[in-house]
Amino acid sequence: MAKEIVKPATGKLGIMVVGLGAVSTTFMTGVMMARKGLAKPVGSMTQYDKIRIGKGENKKYLHYKDIVSMPTLDDLVFAAWDVFPANAYESAINAEVLKEKDIEPVKDELLKIKPMKAAFDKNYAKRLDGDNVKQCKDRWDMTEQVREDIRNFKKETGVDRVVVLWAASTEIYVEPDMKYHGTVAALEQAMKDNVVDKIAPSMCYAYAALTEGCPFIMGAPNTTVDIPAMWELAEKTQMPIAGKDFKTGQTLVKSGFAPIIGARMLGLSGWFSTNILGNRDGLVLDEPANFRTKEVSKLSTLESILVADDQPDLYNDYFHKVRINYYPPRNDNKEGWDNIDIFGWMGYPMQIKINFLCRDSILAAPLCLDLCLLIDLARRAGRYGTQRFLSFFLKSPMHDYTKNEIPVNHLFQQHVMLKNAIREMGGYEADEEID
Ligand SMILES: NC(=O)c1ccc[n+]([C@@H]2O[C@H](COP(=O)([O-])OP(=O)(O)OC[C@H]3O[C@@H](n4cnc5c(N)ncnc54)[C@H](O)[C@@H]3O)[C@@H](O)[C@H]2O)c1
Repeated sequence: MAKEIVKPATGKLGIMVVGLGAVSTTFMTGVMMARKGLAKPVGSMTQYDKIRIGKGENKKYLHYKDIVSMPTLDDLVFAAWDVFPANAYESAINAEVLKEKDIEPVKDELLKIKPMKAAFDKNYAKRLDGDNVKQCKDRWDMTEQVREDIRNFKKETGVDRVVVLWAASTEIYVEPDMKYHGTVAALEQAMKDNVVDKIAPSMCYAYAALTEGCPFIMGAPNTTVDIPAMWELAEKTQMPIAGKDFKTGQTLVKSGFAPIIGARMLGLSGWFSTNILGNRDGLVLDEPANFRTKEVSKLSTLESILVADDQPDLYNDYFHKVRINYYPPRNDNKEGWDNIDIFGWMGYPMQIKINFLCRDSILAAPLCLDLCLLIDLARRAGRYGTQRFLSFFLKSPMHDYTKNEIPVNHLFQQHVMLKNAIREMGGYEADEEID
């Protein structure tokens, strides 16, 4: 066995989730059911995936936990913030993702998760009307209050480490503005000056997490940690960050399917994606300013996989359109349609149709688990700043756009990055090339 270079996962790992809605309660309920042996954590890389270690005759395939020290599901302790006061049991029932039979056995544990008051500003999600909200003098005060929540949680539970995960609603789009988002000093000043249209509540959670020594994950497409000020803060506090936007349904399909077109040198003239969903996420995204945030995130996927500069005959000027439609009868059971207009030999057109009847939160829950466990691993390995190896789980992977860095969106290349990082942290050679 190679020597580990990460600190061991001792004690309990606290997972503080912003938002106690469909995704968070499905995640928490699944973990609780799995540790009772009543459900399987299907879809989770950390629980199932095996990675090759060594080459040739010496190669073997090992689970992550056999390569690096990882917490078990029993080691996880949850807390949450939400705009609504419903506890995790009530919220799981309201979300209507899971059947009662899959919630009732862990009812007692879920009842105990009562959301702390949210750091919230209605201007960032107009369709939400909850009253479990902090009264804040300004954005700096908002940040201070979240910091206090984190400190209290640590004290009350005695957890060894904490990770903060954003699984709350998508905020309205905040365009990065270097005057406020360029440096930590500018960001802090803007918080103190209460520049409310530049400092989203999510930035207060992220700032609080990093300064309290907790890695931060952005599961929505919000700008939040995708600004130079937060990258600088992550360096200064030596904390890992990851984002943005869980890669679940249509974008997962897109980043896995586009490589088929690219690998066979077929052309693309258009890709139209539309879907219907009826959960609260869909309701928030029905607001144009909130949808804009999602649209920016979803559109970025194709351009780095099917690249016009590499193959101008094949990928010049294809039309890429993404739509989301709020349709209450379907609730969390999203239906997505992709129409792909491709062309082949001598330019002859063909069409591919993909109809994915998915369940949003069922796809997102394992990503929550993996992102939390892996960002905690990164921290124990002494890694900080943007964790590019976590792009596998994200629709719009963070990258340094001030230096024109191109993010990797190709699902299989992202998988290689993930495997190499685990190998490295386990003290093995990161021996797989990204082609
Ligand atoms: N499920 C998926 O497949 C998927 C994929 C990618 C991204 N996401 C993102 O994950 C997030 C959660 O999705 P969901 O289906 O659970 O939504 P949801 O509406 O069921 O839950 C979100 C919760 O966040 C709360 N909230 C909003 N702003 C808050 C704040 N400032 N502080 C604390 N709580 C706040 C809301 O009250 C709500 O209860 C959304 O942003 C969604 O876009 C989901």
